[in-house]
Amino acid sequence: MSFFENTRKPAGLGGKMMVFLMNLGHRGLSRWGFQFLDLSADAAALDCGCGGGANLKRLLKSCPEGRVTGVDYSEISVGKSRVLNQEAVAAGRCRVLQASVMHLPFSLETFNAVTAFETVYFWPDLHRSFQEVRRVLKPGGTFLICNECGGDASRDEKWTEVVSGMVIYRDLQLKSALEKAGFREIQLHKNKKGWLCVTGRK
Ligand SMILES: C[S@@+](CC[C@H](N)C(=O)[O-])C[C@H]1O[C@@H](n2cnc3c(N)ncnc32)[C@H](O)[C@@H]1O
Repeated sequence: MSFFENTRKPAGLGGKMMVFLMNLGHRGLSRWGFQFLDLSADAAALDCGCGGGANLKRLLKSCPEGRVTGVDYSEISVGKSRVLNQEAVAAGRCRVLQASVMHLPFSLETFNAVTAFETVYFWPDLHRSFQEVRRVLKPGGTFLICNECGGDASRDEKWTEVVSGMVIYRDLQLKSALEKAGFREIQLHKNKKGWLCVTGRK
């Protein structure tokens, strides 16, 4: 297995290194994407494909009176996210569960916001997983997708060559998939680096 396969599902020692590197390497993208997320101080937020948990930490800062949940289907990602956010976990403000986005272990209308940074490339069935995200969002809640690869840069292809099963979606493909899953008020944001952030409302 190539080291880069750990971006899809971190495993073993390579996976431990990858989650550490992702927390560092995705800082800029994360800061950029968070400007498009409007959260109240007491919001309940879910980060799907939380990786090493850096975005859980950001969400905890953004909603200091709220509760933050992370899900990831990788045991390594879940472990690292719990360690990184251990104080908030101990305080009962953060929980991290091992689960697939295809079957989110939450009731209908649980969250005010759901985020997905650098992860929808790997989701096996975009329509079903977007419907699943919509199910757990409260009415009016926001789903934010943020990707470093927006399909416009030539370097994007290099990633699909080294990570099996990775699919890079363009802005309009994500917009259409979100609309089909029932989201409205879709907003598209791009920058010069080719980064893409898409938000939709339930
Ligand atoms: C490239 S990493 C991004 C991690 C983190 N969001 C970040 O921005 O640093 C992708 C993460 O999504 C997780 N992931 C991919 N597909 C998933 C799925 N279907 N269900 C849950 N987690 C998934 C992987 O295990 C991995 O931790």
